[in-house]
Order: sequence, then C-alpha cells, then structure tokens
Amino acid sequence: MSKRIEVRDLNVYYGKFLAVEGVNMEIEPRSVTAFIGPSGCGKTTFLRTLNRMHEVVPGARVEGEVLIDGNNLYDPDVDPVLVRRQVGMVFQRPNPFPTMSVKDNVLAGVKLNNRRISKSDADELMERSLRSANLWNEVKDRLDRPGSGLSGGQQQRLCIARAIAVSPEVILMDEPCSALDPISTLAIEDLIEELKQDYTIVIVTHNMQQASRVSDRTAFFNIAGTGKPGKLIEYDDTTTIFSNPSVKATEDYVSGRFG
Ligand SMILES: Nc1ncnc2c1ncn2[C@@H]1O[C@H](COP(=O)(O)OP(=O)(O)O)[C@@H](O)[C@H]1O
Ligand SMILES: [Mg+2]
Repeated sequence: MSKRIEVRDLNVYYGKFLAVEGVNMEIEPRSVTAFIGPSGCGKTTFLRTLNRMHEVVPGARVEGEVLIDGNNLYDPDVDPVLVRRQVGMVFQRPNPFPTMSVKDNVLAGVKLNNRRISKSDADELMERSLRSANLWNEVKDRLDRPGSGLSGGQQQRLCIARAIAVSPEVILMDEPCSALDPISTLAIEDLIEELKQDYTIVIVTHNMQQASRVSDRTAFFNIAGTGKPGKLIEYDDTTTIFSNPSVKATEDYVSGRFG
C-alpha cells in the first residue's frame, strides 16, 4: 500500500513567481518525513505539488518530476483526480463537512470518487477507518450526529479517517496540529506513529519537538529573502538534523535562533 516518492529538479511557480526552486528528494515508504523552515519558505507550496493540488491555483505550475513508485505524477496522461486519491491530504484546520454526519464525513471521499458500495461494506469501511484514526470509541454512539459537533482534535482525526477511507498510499499533512490543544496534538502524533506502518507520511510542522518526536527524516527549507525562492537546504535523518546538521542555517533554525 505504502509508496516511495522521488522528487527530481522540481521548480514550483505561481505565474511568473518562482516560489520553490530545485528540490531533489527521496522519501521512503512506511516512514514519516517532516518539512520544517520559516514561514513563507514554500513548505505548503511544495507539499501540495506531491498530489497535484498546487495546480488548482490559477497560473500555478511546476517544472521537474514527482515520481511515485517510479511513475511521474506530472506525465500528461495522468489524471490529477486519481493522483489525489492515491495521495491524500490533511489540512491545517480540521475541515469536516459541517452539516454531514460523522459517518457521512468518513465516507465522503469514497462517494465523491463515485464508488458504488453496499450498505454493509460502507459500514465496515467506516468503522475500519475510524478505528485506524483512533476515533471509533469516541464516536461510535454518535455516528449520525454532525461532524462539526466534535472537538477540534476529534474533527482532525475525523479528517484523517476520511483521508484513509479512500485507501491512499501516501498521506500529506500540513501543520495538522496547529489549531489543536496539547492533548489532541499528542493524540495525532500517536496516530501518525501507528499510520506509518501502512502509509508514507509527510508532515509540515512549525513545532520542532513534534518534528523530532514523529519523523524519521527531516527536510529543512529556507528562503534568502522576500521574493526569493524557497530552497531545500538540508535533508537527513531527523536525529542528524537536530543533533548534528551540516549546514549552519539548519542549526540556527532548529536551535531557535531564527524563524
Ligand atoms: N496562491 C498563491 N499565489 C501566489 N503566491 C503564493 C500563493 N500561495 C503562496 N504563495 C507564495 O509562495 C511562497 C511560499 O508560501 P508557502 O508555501 O505558503 O510557505 P510556507 O508554507 O513555508 O509558510 C510565499 O512567498 C507565498 O506568498
Ligand atoms: Mg504553510
């Protein structure tokens, strides 16, 4: 299920603006990779190129390749809708469909993908997804109530259940805990640790402790100044990035001297 990602010479544009330049990176299956770096260095922009969400912005485009198990997502015959099913995304703010029940939220992606599914298969998939997201016990008695009635941390796990339900191979998370309290944050971190047994996970985080707790590999991005492109500065095992980085800027950032 889990897949390997390879990024080759990727440049990412908004119209004429080069937002991220020259990224090369390999991400192993069944691992957690953290993207860190100061605001505006292009973490979100780059993350969104990994499932072709970037090009949803008018004028936005990329040069270079993103390969998932050897297949370039940007080949002309590749359907971006299928890419987004294979590579799921969890956003900064939990975004369950507010009027939909907990149950319908979990199944929303599956239904959008037009899959015909029997009621018993749907119930089974819903329970499995909620269990995988460590949410089942908290919601099993309120499956027909609106998803918006859950706490923030529960809503984020609901969004993770919704992402899992379509059987992705990769899950991208853009600061998934930034709107959550510390307890909910730890619940999501525990969940990420479990999910990496089945999925390739990439997480953007501003929280250095979080990056060092949850990730196997860490990529530090930086920007030379306003209007300049963000670049990948250093990419290595998380322990190396935090204890013995090769680049001074990485050390300054992880030790809290800027950003
Ligand atoms: N929709 C957009 N249109 C034009 N420029 C954008 C858009 N989104 C982000 N940018 C620019 O791209 C750069 C990288 O932003 P972003 O990826 O959000 O950084 P980060 O997630 O690291 O804070 C910034 O200069 C930002 O202003
Ligand atoms: Mg961002």
